[in-house]
Amino acid sequence: MSQMQRSHWSNRLGFILVASGSAVGLGNIWKFPYITGEHGGGAFVLVYLACIMFVNVPIFIAELYIGQRSQADAVSAFEKLHHTGTPWRIAGAMGIVSSFLILSFYSVVGGWVLDFQVKSVLNQFAGKTDQEIGGMLSALFADPKSLLLWHLAFMVLTVGIVIGGISRGIERWGRILMPGLFAILIGLLVWCTSLEGFGKSIDFLFTPNFDKLTGNSILVALGHSFFTLSLGLAAMITYGSYLDRNEDLVKASLAVAAADTTIALASGIVIFSIVFSFGLAPNAGPGLMFSTLPTLFNKMPGGYLVSTGFFSLVAFAALSSSISLLETIVTYFVDKRGLSRSKVTIYAGVAIYLLGILSALSFNTLADFKIGKFTFFDLFDGLTTNILLPLGGLIISLFYGWILSREGVKDSIQGHGGELAWKGLMWAARIFAPACILWVLYNGATNWLFG
Ligand code: TRP
Repeated sequence: MSQMQRSHWSNRLGFILVASGSAVGLGNIWKFPYITGEHGGGAFVLVYLACIMFVNVPIFIAELYIGQRSQADAVSAFEKLHHTGTPWRIAGAMGIVSSFLILSFYSVVGGWVLDFQVKSVLNQFAGKTDQEIGGMLSALFADPKSLLLWHLAFMVLTVGIVIGGISRGIERWGRILMPGLFAILIGLLVWCTSLEGFGKSIDFLFTPNFDKLTGNSILVALGHSFFTLSLGLAAMITYGSYLDRNEDLVKASLAVAAADTTIALASGIVIFSIVFSFGLAPNAGPGLMFSTLPTLFNKMPGGYLVSTGFFSLVAFAALSSSISLLETIVTYFVDKRGLSRSKVTIYAGVAIYLLGILSALSFNTLADFKIGKFTFFDLFDGLTTNILLPLGGLIISLFYGWILSREGVKDSIQGHGGELAWKGLMWAARIFAPACILWVLYNGATNWLFG
């Protein structure tokens, strides 16, 4: 697609909303609380926050800048800024592969959300005991047909939005739905202050206990910091490529990182307040959100509306993230290979759906089929989040710091914070972030694989 025809986000606010739409998703509301529970709380949260600030914010700026400067897809971006056939384009290629893998299991979880959304609308939580509600996700897991249907529904919705294209499809939805999600979470947070488990929840999340921190937990925290900000697989290069050349990247990156972190912490506080108020287990795993929240909704006045509103918004948050995964793939095949947007979108959607079947069946038919110690679901999730995203981030950071170097870094921050800022950022991109990633991969990866 030529420069002239390339569509763009309509303005900065529009971009910040879609980029936050990509960042804020199941990673914040479903995944962050459950992995925090599995890794013991406070110390894990601290490492996660440090990763966001010192490793991911620089990489966020780097990805957006690479996209914005090149106005090109994940692979061509590296070629345009360096030279045709540059080995650095491997980061883009890895990104395309990771997008396929992530979306395949993401859509399965998106399906669980749709199921719970419909259960809310049909008022199926009413009159159930806490135990019965706790068992509803396992009942869904035991039913492969429903899982596959919901996974299909989620993929169809994702494909439907991406076919609409950049400003008509993706941006329009981000503008409406993100603020809605923010509002309902803040409301729930206020409500949770009245629960007896609220204080314990704050304690659990914010009092670090370093005994519980292993190399593996640090790896999971780092991986998640990439996952939650949609970094490491060139999704933000892709979104950045639809940005005007003079748009301010520093403000956009900081705004998105702040919004994403706030939403993750808010849902963590809400979920653990419920966990500690009703004697549930913080380390319940992937089902955590689905067993805790309906328990609360069931007990609050107006719970029917809150529950319906909440699951609808989580479904939308998941969709505004899944579309960025699919868009990364689509932009590549449209820009680089010259294929038609609608064809690519549909073919990729079908391929991802088929791959996702392996993840959906990991909870029933294929539960005992293990590769090493992992089900397909755990493998796709762990391999992308813990290994491929940090590795992609590493390459992007080095490319930005060493290849685009001084001029590029200076140009990307447009005078914000003066000399100190661009020198700091260059140091972060060249040395600090890559060193952290290597150190964490070295200490955590073997443990995650074989431990
Ligand atoms: N950030 C999203 C979430 O938290 C998931 C996601 C969307 C993603 N696009 C991505 C993760 C690109 C990694 C890379 O739910």
